[in-house]
Amino acid sequence: QSVAVLGAPFSRGQKRGGVEHGPKVIRDAGLIDRLSGLDYSIHDFGDLNFHYIEKDEPYMDVKFPRTVGAANKMVSGAVSRAVGAGHTLVMLGGDHSLAIGSVAGHAQQCPDLCLIWVDAHADINTPMSSPSGNLHGQPVAFMLKELQDKMPDIPGFSWTKPFLTSRDLVYIGLRDIDPGEHHILKDLGIQYFTMRDVDRLGIQRVMEVALDHLLSRKQRPIHLSFDVDAFDPSLAPATGTPVNGGLTYREGIYITEEIHNTGLLSVMDLVEVNPTLGANPEAVQATALLAVDVIASSLGQTREGARASIDQNP
Ligand code: ARG
Ligand code: MN
Ligand code: MN
Ligand code: MN
Repeated sequence: QSVAVLGAPFSRGQKRGGVEHGPKVIRDAGLIDRLSGLDYSIHDFGDLNFHYIEKDEPYMDVKFPRTVGAANKMVSGAVSRAVGAGHTLVMLGGDHSLAIGSVAGHAQQCPDLCLIWVDAHADINTPMSSPSGNLHGQPVAFMLKELQDKMPDIPGFSWTKPFLTSRDLVYIGLRDIDPGEHHILKDLGIQYFTMRDVDRLGIQRVMEVALDHLLSRKQRPIHLSFDVDAFDPSLAPATGTPVNGGLTYREGIYITEEIHNTGLLSVMDLVEVNPTLGANPEAVQATALLAVDVIASSLGQTREGARASIDQNP
């Protein structure tokens, strides 16, 4: 079993600087050491080198379309190659617009993948429904076949076509949904669990229903796209669009433990850690350590300890 780590230092999917330093602070919080303790061979692919396009006027209200499109094309190629080479891939963002490339590249290798989106936000705005024009609020709209006729031809994105259906996607942690997004979620009958659902059902039941929805017909590769703002801002303060009332530490870790236990995790994104937005260095460090915990747990770190490796080599 081998895990590859890919940094994507990119911020043009939204307006706040600093989120491009996410890969560095997550690595500095000890990511590679923690994964090395989990019996994988770890391949650190380093960071992608993005080019910011000079003249990149908004299209409709969409900000930096060509820059975001080109960055995602690069992410898509890198993810596709890593998965094709047999690695389980961890993509470190960067803002959440990067999921367009990450999931697209994954889908190139695994056309039957399913997507678990853990986030305070649905990130399913179309350019018409987006209140901000920021592409980190729109990545899912680029993926869904059912939204194809609602998506204009945005400069920078001619390389990608929708590859998912609404049945292949589940959301967990939502609590800040724009009106246009709510309409899309209802219209397409997308399975989503808001924080109110987590309150009502408990995280155990949420995961049971979510995984059953995606996997009961057949086992297939999982793409986990984890936005650190799914956590409560008291736990993950260093992020661009915090929303009160988020996941507890234990709910977040339970989600990733259950995903690991399927044995189907193929690619994960950990996005929106912005070290320039913490109130102090401790706040930044706490957010980065939390990101490391989420990744390690997704890859099999347990809370019950593991057998000593001497027992595993009879
Ligand atoms: N819904 C808002 C928007 O469309 C906020 C999106 C926040 N997205 C994120 N990946 N943090 O702009
Ligand atoms: Mn900077
Ligand atoms: Mn979010
Ligand atoms: Mn997001």
